[in-house]
Amino acid sequence: MAPRVLISDKLSDAAVQIFKDRGIEVDFQPNLGKDKDKLAEVIGQYDGLAIRSATKVTPTILENATNLKVIGRAGIGTDNVDKEAASKKGVIVMNTPFGNMITTAEHAIAMMFACARQIPEASASTHAGKWEKSKFMGVELTGKTLGVIGAGNIGGIVCDRARGLKMKVVAYDPFLGEDKAKQMQVEKVELEDLLKRADFITLHVPLTDQTRNILSAENLAKTKKGVRIINCARGGLVDEAALAELLKSGHVAGAAFDVFSEEPATENPLFNLPNVVCTPHLGAATTEAQENVALQVAEQMANYLLTGA
Ligand code: MLT
Repeated sequence: MAPRVLISDKLSDAAVQIFKDRGIEVDFQPNLGKDKDKLAEVIGQYDGLAIRSATKVTPTILENATNLKVIGRAGIGTDNVDKEAASKKGVIVMNTPFGNMITTAEHAIAMMFACARQIPEASASTHAGKWEKSKFMGVELTGKTLGVIGAGNIGGIVCDRARGLKMKVVAYDPFLGEDKAKQMQVEKVELEDLLKRADFITLHVPLTDQTRNILSAENLAKTKKGVRIINCARGGLVDEAALAELLKSGHVAGAAFDVFSEEPATENPLFNLPNVVCTPHLGAATTEAQENVALQVAEQMANYLLTGA
């Protein structure tokens, strides 16, 4: 019997086609992930579950997943899957670490520009017919120091793009070797040093026990006056309430956040502060990235279900 896969989030049609081409029966139900009771009711029929971020794979879903062999996350973070419960059940969890890295890095760079030149506020003011030319004084990026926390796949691309913009790049990443740093033309530094020196700080680490609250109130207080902070990685890396206070006091000149400690974010200490640019977790939201991750997750899942590899 052909394996059956459920796609319970919005995934590019390309994924459906790949499953079909590989002889896998596929149910495309992009809104099912939001209905956890319904998902728990039907999950027992499937060998594979393909998701993005809306589906939360909880222990209850996994208890009902009597035939499930693989969960494929079209994207990088697997924080919406209870991996401990999946592993107890012998269910493999796979992601697509490369498909959206350029898109996410580009979003971080776009957010840095938006914050440096207050583009969203200037745009809203111009739309309102105000023509406030002298209100929106910005800063140049050329010659400024960018502190990159996490210089892996996405952070590495951010370093490259920032070097192209003639920024000086310092990176804090315990996994970055000196040789690799030289090759990337970045200076490997300790976190304390980065906090002291950076004009802009951008985060590119997953949320783990080691990275949670890495920009704590204490660390934020060590930053250079006038710093701008960009988070397109994960909510929970920055103490948002402490950052809001430093924005109000003027110590931090701006922030650009795509991710929040609670998502979907309807309330947040950063909302409605001047020079805080916010987007609703759009880091991977380009047609190219979504096509890439959909193709990759479908290929990987099909390989696993058909060959065990
Ligand atoms: C990811 O982990 O791939 C990104 O945060 C994108 C997303 O979750 O939509």
